[in-house]
Amino acid sequence: MTEISKILALFAYLFVFVIGIGVLWILFLYIIDVSQTKHAVRRNFPVVGRFRYMFEHLGEFFRQYFFAQDREEMPFNRAERSWVYRAAKGLDPTVAFGSTRDLRRIGTTIFANTAYPTLAKDSEAQKVYTVGPDCTHPYSTDRMFHISAMSFGAISKPAVLALSRGAKKAGCWMNTGEGGLSPYHLEGGGDIVFQIGTAKYGVRNKDGSLNEAKLAEVAAHEQVKMFEIKLSQGAKPGKGGILPGVKVTEEIAAIRGIPAGHDSISPNRHPEIHDAASLLEMIATVRRITGKPVGFKAVFGGYEWFEELLQLIVMKGPECAPDFITIDSGDGGTGAAPQALMDNVGLPIRESLPVVIDYLYKYGLKKRIHTIASGKLVNPEYVAAAFCSGADFVASARGFMFALGCIQALQCNKNTCPTGITTHDPKLQRGLDPGDKAERVYRYQRSVEHDIAMIAHSCGVSRPRLLRKEHARIVQANGLSVPMGELYPGPTLD
Ligand SMILES: Cc1cc2nc3c(=O)[nH]c(=O)nc-3n(C[C@H](O)[C@H](O)[C@H](O)COP(=O)(O)O)c2cc1C
Repeated sequence: MTEISKILALFAYLFVFVIGIGVLWILFLYIIDVSQTKHAVRRNFPVVGRFRYMFEHLGEFFRQYFFAQDREEMPFNRAERSWVYRAAKGLDPTVAFGSTRDLRRIGTTIFANTAYPTLAKDSEAQKVYTVGPDCTHPYSTDRMFHISAMSFGAISKPAVLALSRGAKKAGCWMNTGEGGLSPYHLEGGGDIVFQIGTAKYGVRNKDGSLNEAKLAEVAAHEQVKMFEIKLSQGAKPGKGGILPGVKVTEEIAAIRGIPAGHDSISPNRHPEIHDAASLLEMIATVRRITGKPVGFKAVFGGYEWFEELLQLIVMKGPECAPDFITIDSGDGGTGAAPQALMDNVGLPIRESLPVVIDYLYKYGLKKRIHTIASGKLVNPEYVAAAFCSGADFVASARGFMFALGCIQALQCNKNTCPTGITTHDPKLQRGLDPGDKAERVYRYQRSVEHDIAMIAHSCGVSRPRLLRKEHARIVQANGLSVPMGELYPGPTLD
């Protein structure tokens, strides 16, 4: 035998060997599948039945590239995400040929343009709004679009760093979420809203009650501008924060004041807040200790409790009122939540926001209590619609996640986020460069504000906060639109 034929023979043996191993492996899987009793598909269709699980998993990734239409996916479709990606990267903001948006869909907002749009020379700069003017340290900002609550824990260190640096450059605030204040929130130098969740992470005693000394320490940071008491969050009303044990690292545990490696589950509500009076008491306590504006965040399921609260405020005097309220949407995002709550509980922001604003007008508190709207308001048209309803500010979490590079892999609860945003795996975090992504956060924030001004000018007003209900029309079941004010006939002028 020549050398060449020896090598060929060796390859032939190897080939037969590998095929043999493969056949044995399939036989092995076949025996396992027919003898197991857990999975009917595998028992009835041994070996091939396994592909179902693989394709189901891969489908999560491939659907968005190959099969889903531009306006089809949930929670955010490709058109919505692409706008954010382009804005964040500073790419050409124009699109070609025509809209892919179906303007006949029920609930679609159409802005009412004027025959005489505002000229660039007549456009006005954004006005400075001051929250909590009677506090020792009121907070003033001319920015309208801000970074909504996401805890360090739910999101990673480089993500927090990128957001805090981006917030500084854009001049907007970032909300810490309920996971406490980390050095990474402070590092960027931007304005911070500190959230007090139901477990009071970062400002708690061992038994979960409020530690006043720790709260004062947090408030001593000049960068921390406001305090938000979280009553509820759209994705999981009636359930506290959930951070799976795999994401509770030593560092996160130390910042929160809890043991590492264990699921971090917050109570369903603040144990000491059970009615309007105790809510106002808590607000007063936090304001007394911090000297800074204090508000609360809630998703609405009804309005009776809110009206009761406003009546009590009117009775006690406007100084006891929260300085702001954040109204979250039933379809808001989260790092982790039970699907039953995520899918079914809490009103969407488009429905609750105009009603809440009407209540504030009714009790003469619209100017005293600033409103922040959140919930899928990631594109300028949604933000502009919130201003038409009367919101003072809009905040987004997932919009800024897209700016950081989120691809909507829906794995925030697993520590396997492929873009490094919601994982503490250093290998996956490598892809997220805080420097580059901070620029994207900045550009996205600015693009949203730029485009809502453009919508405002098209409607004939000189700045976005002059948008009113008459500037938005909502498409009804018959495919025709009616003015927002017809659906929500409360007052619209300050
Ligand atoms: C990863 C992640 C973490 C979040 N963490 C918090 C939190 O700690 N506290 C809170 O009140 N809301 C939290 N939220 C909700 C957001 O702040 C926001 O209210 C909600 O996602 C709606 O805004 P969006 O649609 O722009 O994301 C989180 C959302 C996401 C996606």
